[in-house]
Parts: sequence; C-alpha cells; structure tokens
Amino acid sequence: MKKIEIFDTTLRDGEQSAGVNLHADEKLEIAYQLERLGVDVIEAGFPASSRGDFLSVQRIARSIRQCSVAALARSTEKDIDAAWEAIKEGANPRIHVFIATSPIHMEYKLRLTPDQVVQKAVESVRYAARYTTNIEWSAEDATRSDWDYLVKVVTQVIEAGATVVNLPDTVGYSTPHEYAEMFRYLKEHVPNIHRAKLSAHCHDDLGLAVANSLAAIAGGVEQIECTINGIGERAGNASLEEIAIALAIRKNVFQAETGLELNQTVRTSRLVSKYTGFAVPPNKAVVGANAFAHESGIHQDGVLKNKLTYEIISPEMVGLSSNAIVLGKHSGRHAFKKKCEELGIQLDEDRFNHLFKNFKELTEKRKEVTDDDIMALATDLTGKE
Ligand code: KIV
Ligand code: ZN
Repeated sequence: MKKIEIFDTTLRDGEQSAGVNLHADEKLEIAYQLERLGVDVIEAGFPASSRGDFLSVQRIARSIRQCSVAALARSTEKDIDAAWEAIKEGANPRIHVFIATSPIHMEYKLRLTPDQVVQKAVESVRYAARYTTNIEWSAEDATRSDWDYLVKVVTQVIEAGATVVNLPDTVGYSTPHEYAEMFRYLKEHVPNIHRAKLSAHCHDDLGLAVANSLAAIAGGVEQIECTINGIGERAGNASLEEIAIALAIRKNVFQAETGLELNQTVRTSRLVSKYTGFAVPPNKAVVGANAFAHESGIHQDGVLKNKLTYEIISPEMVGLSSNAIVLGKHSGRHAFKKKCEELGIQLDEDRFNHLFKNFKELTEKRKEVTDDDIMALATDLTGKE
C-alpha cells in the first residue's frame, strides 16, 4: 500500500473562502483538532499577507508537535523571510513557495516571460534553501500550463532544492484522466523527479476536486492537499473527509492509504463549520447530517435486517455513535415497530395497526415525525380506550 500524506490547507486556502475570517484562537483550536485527526502537514497561513496572519501561524507552529507546519510565500525574499520567521520553531517546518506557470497568468498577472518565471522560481527555492530542506514548490495554474514548460521548470526547482512539487488545478479546470496524465508525463520526463514528492491540489469549480485528487494517485502523487468540508476559494478545495473515506473504503482500488484517525472526521468537520459559519449541507458525503440517515421504508427495513444493505461506511468509522432511522412519510412498519419498542410502547397487534395508521396520516402533514409525536399518538390511542 502506498502511503498518501495529507496536507491540510483549511487554515490557508480554506480561510480564503469569501465570508470566512477566523480568529487566531479559533485557528489554533482547529490546528489542534487537525493534529488529533492525524494530518501530515498543516498549512497554517500566509505570513506575509498581514501581521495578524504572521502571529497566528507563529502560534500554531509553536504549539503543534505531531504535524509539519507549512507557511505560504510568493517568490520574493520578503515573503520567504516572513514564512520562515513564522514557522521556524515548528516541529518540522515547511516553506511553501509558489509562482504561476500558465501563459495567461504569466502574461497578464505576473507580466513576466516564461524564462523570467523559471529564473524567479529557481531563485526563490534557492533562497528558501538557506533556511531549510523542507521546501514545497507549487506551479500555480499548472493544469493550464504547457507540460513541456512544466518539465523544464520542475527539473530546475528540484535542482535548486525543492523536495515537494505541487501541481495545482488552481481554477478547477482539469478532469480525472487529464490530471493523472499530467503527473505521469512529469514523472516520465523530469530526470531528477525521484528527488521530490509529487503533490495534488484541486479546486472544485467543476465539482471534480475529489475525483481529480484521487485520480492523481494513479498518476504518482504521494501527497494530497485538501480542506475540511471542502472550503476554499470560489467553489472550494477538495474535501479532506471525502478523500480520506474514499481511500479507506476502496483501499484495494486505490492501493493507497492515509495515516488519519478517521474517527475524528465528524468532530473536525463540525468544529470548522462552527467557526467558519459555513453550514455543512445535509446531503454532503461523509459528514452531512443525512449521510447516515435512512428514510424510506425499503431502506429502513433493509438496514434493520443488515446495515450493509444500504450502508457502505459505518457511522462509527467517522466518529458517530450510530446511524439514524428518520421517521417520515416513506417509512414502513418495520422501522416504526422498532421505534415503538425503543420508546417502550407496548401494544397488541390491533392497536399497533391503528397507531401505525395514525402515524402515516401525521407524516402527510410533517416532514419528520419526532419521538414526542409518536408518544403523543400512542397516549391518544390508549387514552381513548
Ligand atoms: O490553488 C492554488 O494554486 C494554490 C497555490 C497557492 C498552491 O492555492
Ligand atoms: Zn488553492
């Protein structure tokens, strides 16, 4: 099994979500929870962006002992100095330096020629190498870059000291097959690629971030960058919980595994949701409120007989104590009977049939029928006789 390192960027790319502004105390609490979850790297922020971010990254680096703490820097000495200053007391600090490599970014955003970008990339990595050997280099907008140009720049940044090479799908444009092919191409054509670890970083503009990240494993990546609840710029980043659970459930397909403590998944998701103010949609895979809820009679009947009929993930695996049988208009007699037993309602066959009929009538008026509703129906019924 190949080990996939999880690089969590909730506190950097995730915090770049419009409408999110985390307080330093909240960031630290999230960092501690990420440490409990067992991520390999926490990207704590972008220290050159503000004094507040600098101090928050520094505090996290000083507090976290079980994960590497990374800080982002543009390809300038000032940014790299700030990044290093903020993380240098961390357990295994990583400088993450980036520059854009796509024609559109180089021409319009950077106003640099491709050769000037190579030069800047190499200089920035060399500069970071004065501080550490733990250097990640990212080719921003890699998926809209020319692959032979990527070969050229990646070869040179590895020569300059980069030990992780990240090729982001910055604008969420790629597809699983194409993204995996890009990594394969680099592995085949960059002569010194064995000296660096390849990394995937996907955005969700086309809803493909998780699929692309997983496809990248077949292309040869050993690190995946993602965020809790998939928060991030625009439509967000690849969601950590979906990647982690897909890898765990379909291990044999991916031939890869993470070192995550999966039973911390839901807890981490809820903490990030609370502090960002971003609600998790009920139907979100793995961590949504309905991810383990069964409503239809056929499904409830199946699950009550054997959970595996409709549950491929056990709730306990992600840190929940049990699944939920939600009583609504699609529920059947089996689930209703089970609920009555749980509530201590004991009725003979006739009265049970009557109660079930009243329950079905109530579901026409209500989306969900609660335990209190059922108790009230049962009391009504026994009171009348
Ligand atoms: O999406 C992206 O390209 C990034 C880089 C800064 C790594 O977040
Ligand atoms: Zn990003």
